[in-house]
Amino acid sequence: MEKRFGGLKHILRAQDFSRKWIEEVLFPKTDEMEARTLKGDRGQPLFGKEMISLFAGESLRTRASFNIAMKRLGGEITFETEDVRKFSSMAKGESLEDTIITLNEYGADVIVLRYDEEGGAERAAAVSDIPIINAGDGGGQHPTQALLDLYVIQKHLNRIDGISIAMIGDLEKGRTVHSLAYLFGKFDGVKIYFVSPDNLKIKPDIKEYLNRHNVRFFETKDVREVASKVDVFYQTRTQTNLGTKPFDRADEKNGFTVINKQILDLAKKDSIILHPLPCTDEIVRSEVDPDRRAVYIKTKGDRMSQVKGGIYIRMAILWLLL
Ligand code: NCD
Repeated sequence: MEKRFGGLKHILRAQDFSRKWIEEVLFPKTDEMEARTLKGDRGQPLFGKEMISLFAGESLRTRASFNIAMKRLGGEITFETEDVRKFSSMAKGESLEDTIITLNEYGADVIVLRYDEEGGAERAAAVSDIPIINAGDGGGQHPTQALLDLYVIQKHLNRIDGISIAMIGDLEKGRTVHSLAYLFGKFDGVKIYFVSPDNLKIKPDIKEYLNRHNVRFFETKDVREVASKVDVFYQTRTQTNLGTKPFDRADEKNGFTVINKQILDLAKKDSIILHPLPCTDEIVRSEVDPDRRAVYIKTKGDRMSQVKGGIYIRMAILWLLL
């Protein structure tokens, strides 16, 4: 296997990364990308490198940050579609495999793929000599989001070992939760509280993985029960685009999965609130945004936002991969 990216050819699943590579290679490179951006360094380390961006499914941050990261490092996006399901021959019934094989024939250095079905990235990788980056596959995984989430946690809390985290919302379909939970399996003493209504619980395969990797986890329906215990709140959206029915997050029969002033009052002073975004009704924004613990969208002084971490991690990933 090639050594350049922690021994990986494709980026498909969070559990494939090693802790050592994350801490000793990826995070320092990400810090370097931040420093480089702040300095306004216009060097072009990826000059001549080509990226194809294929998105089946809605995206702002993932798509924009990969494109901007590539261009900022001097690389090119040689082909992209607004929605590959509608604007490529997939609309005529062409398979994902034939689409990827065709693009391999034309050539590129990396393909960033968002797909609307779980397993899409693995199907693409099976027919691709060009590295595939899984930019989210249905209710499966979103490994680069999880790497950025982990980076932001390390930045704010200065540690990952021993943290307590509440992962809240649609845990069944939320792919960022799946990938982040897998990453915690690489660290020591992490405690996870999975907070969701009964019908949207975390899947058994992830629980088995966590058991095997000695990660303690608990399940509850009410974020108020755990709010005073956690260092990180990881709030997520109801995945309506993947088929989850919207539900009232404060209706007692569903439990309680909103972050509002009441939760802020219970929370530790030095905790942080994360959300992979987009945010709909699961955070009361008028109450929570002004709080210094809210670091999901906007950078506050030297408190880097999770969104900002996204551009640096994707610059680091592309640099290391290419
Ligand atoms: C997430 C995704 O697409 O999985 N968004 C993102 O990439 N930051 C989360 C979501 O859509 O809820």
